Amino acid sequence: MSTTLVPPRAEPQPGVANAPIAPLPATAPIAFHRAALDEGDVAAVTAVLRSGWLTTGPRAQEFEKALAAAMGRRHALLLNSATSALFLAYKAAGVGPGDDVLVPAITFMATAEVAIHLGARPVVVDVDPATLLMDVGDLQKKLTRRARLVAPVHYAGHPCAMAPLRELAAAERLAIVEDAAHCLTGREGARQPGEGTLGAALSFYATKELAVGEGGALVSDDDGVIERARRWSLHGISKPAHARMQIGARAHYDVEDVGYKMNLPDVLAALGLSQLPRMEAQRERREAIARRYDAALAGLPGVTPLAVRPGFTSARHLYVVRIDAAAAGIERDALAAALGAQGIGTSIHFLPIHEMTVLKTLYGTRAADCPVASRAGREVLSLPIYPGLSDGDVDRIAAAVRAIVAERAP
Ligand SMILES: Cc1ncc(COP(=O)(O)O)c(C=O)c1O
Repeated sequence: MSTTLVPPRAEPQPGVANAPIAPLPATAPIAFHRAALDEGDVAAVTAVLRSGWLTTGPRAQEFEKALAAAMGRRHALLLNSATSALFLAYKAAGVGPGDDVLVPAITFMATAEVAIHLGARPVVVDVDPATLLMDVGDLQKKLTRRARLVAPVHYAGHPCAMAPLRELAAAERLAIVEDAAHCLTGREGARQPGEGTLGAALSFYATKELAVGEGGALVSDDDGVIERARRWSLHGISKPAHARMQIGARAHYDVEDVGYKMNLPDVLAALGLSQLPRMEAQRERREAIARRYDAALAGLPGVTPLAVRPGFTSARHLYVVRIDAAAAGIERDALAAALGAQGIGTSIHFLPIHEMTVLKTLYGTRAADCPVASRAGREVLSLPIYPGLSDGDVDRIAAAVRAIVAERAP
């Protein structure tokens, strides 16, 4: 995932007691993202460093239990990325050579690439224009006899409506694996990712809700899926290192299957675990930021935020606006550049995957396969949204967008 990097804002310097803290200049750069870490997180990591046990061990076990409880699932398997979680979940669903895996066009390539690694073909499905979530009508049209699995992506934190997907999956005997990389705190009604499906992949990448740098998890209610995925995630070994290396424990192990190396070390598990209690409060802060943007950008020609459907709670991982160049008088990329010139970082989520060289070359995908996504790919712009942004920052970003568009709109 690309992140526009601008220098971090200068922190207020600790000074003489009662000395006024100079306000940040209105031109101070606003990074597209900064992880919302605190001293408790630093202490949690240093405690692991001091403990002498660095790799997967007691902190990972603790984080798995707490994460499963927070997600309302029976199990959470910590992994080194959401990509690994998707791979192992597809593999657990039996995806293999000759199969098709249906994925939306607006996603990160990870959702599709793991199907290719398993010998399957990703089939790219168009999206709904208002939410950019997978369009079930187009999914139906693109189903083949080879279809084995569908991977709805809860893009930007907005959960996909699962009832129509589950109905279709039951009728067509498809497995469902949810890509919830953006959606730890998003819900459909009370439903959380992974309920009633094979499982959901979560990401702990640097910009995500729980940011550990690189990491992820597979959450599931299926004991068998998690048991197999756990074994594959660590070389197919019957007993993990922390079970073998306890003093007095029997050090023997067997390798029962061909596995991979996808475990999450305790250094990173501790960082995720210490952020977990703040996850809901941070979603609420992002919700407030999103509503502030909505209000500040309302009525601006050619600038349309993504819709959040009634009955859904978005994790608000991203705040995406669509820039209709004809109405706004400016192309998305020119707007991003103009914001960058004012020290405001932005990003793009996503350039549609069916237009990527790898899928065009391997499977002959064309822009016309997913016209809604192709248009969205030219229009989407992600504005900063993270708990460390002040209301003043949000106002400044929205005012900058307004001013740039007002100058150019026809
Ligand atoms: C929708 C989506 N799925 C999957 C991934 C892969 O996550 P990870 O980097 O943890 O492998 C990302 C990463 O940004 C993503 O945005």
